[in-house]
Amino acid sequence: MEKRHFIDLDILSSEEISHILDKALLMKKEFKDLRHKAPKLCDGRILATIFEKPSTRTRVSFDVAMRDLGGSCISLSSNDLQLGRGESIADTARVMSRYVDVMMLRTSAHQNLLDLAEFADVPVINGLTDRSHPCQILADILTFIEKRGPIEGRKVAWIGDCNNVALSAVHAATKLGFSFYIAAPEQYGPTEAMQEAIAKDKALGLTGGKSSIHIVDKIEDAFEGADLIMTDTWVSMGDEDAAERKEAFAPYQVNREMMALADKDALFMHCLPAYRGREVTADVIDGPQSVVFDEAENRLHVQKAIIAWSLGAI
Ligand code: CP
Ligand code: NVA
Repeated sequence: MEKRHFIDLDILSSEEISHILDKALLMKKEFKDLRHKAPKLCDGRILATIFEKPSTRTRVSFDVAMRDLGGSCISLSSNDLQLGRGESIADTARVMSRYVDVMMLRTSAHQNLLDLAEFADVPVINGLTDRSHPCQILADILTFIEKRGPIEGRKVAWIGDCNNVALSAVHAATKLGFSFYIAAPEQYGPTEAMQEAIAKDKALGLTGGKSSIHIVDKIEDAFEGADLIMTDTWVSMGDEDAAERKEAFAPYQVNREMMALADKDALFMHCLPAYRGREVTADVIDGPQSVVFDEAENRLHVQKAIIAWSLGAI
């Protein structure tokens, strides 16, 4: 079987993404409270997770997911490896492939992930890069589907930084057919990668693609009637212009007044970690529309499906 890397949502088919989501939902429904009875889809298999950056959710949910699937996980920081002293990604990939069945990488440079996938003999999963965070967006979509049904045709708004999580959301919009509205300050607007993704989506639209992606000037236009409001930290890991960012993003805070413009049943999502009083007020993130801890839980369920898919077990 060809190696099934999980690198980015734009290079998977809509069918593959829906298959992973369906399996994740099923596994959650049937076995959330019956871990010991869950089918051991990855019995005896070993996952290595490598972190160049800090992580709470990704680190723990991948480890627990692999245990639930009957396998085991070795969680490593890049500084624990010779990688931290300059051994190449290619050699690390070749060596690790002799020991483990699947790898996950969190890295500052997306190219490191692509290199790992190129030189590994085992599947490689994206656990966040400077470019994208597809595991997070699949968990978010799973959360939306559980609470509100299919996401196709719904209005989703992204408020704030056009960062890694936002790019994966653009990819998901194209593949799953929802409208995606982005409100961002000009200097932190769509990156080159996001502009490319938007152009691809537009081109597909001409041939019957179902999504539509809009960059709005007025923040209110993103919130207006939205079914889902999403935001993220104004300062991602590795960003070095924190002071400028805090100033530029100040008008982009998600607060009660702005949430009132969205649909009355709108959900609020944030991948976490969150900074209350900055990108979102406490009354919103801790309020009734917020589903941030369901999103965090769903990282576990969706990643079980991603690992099982990458190993050809589903
Ligand atoms: N959302 C997310 O990826 O969280 P961590 O950085 O804690 O893994
Ligand atoms: N955009 C954030 C996501 C953290 C999970 C970052 O890259 O730091």
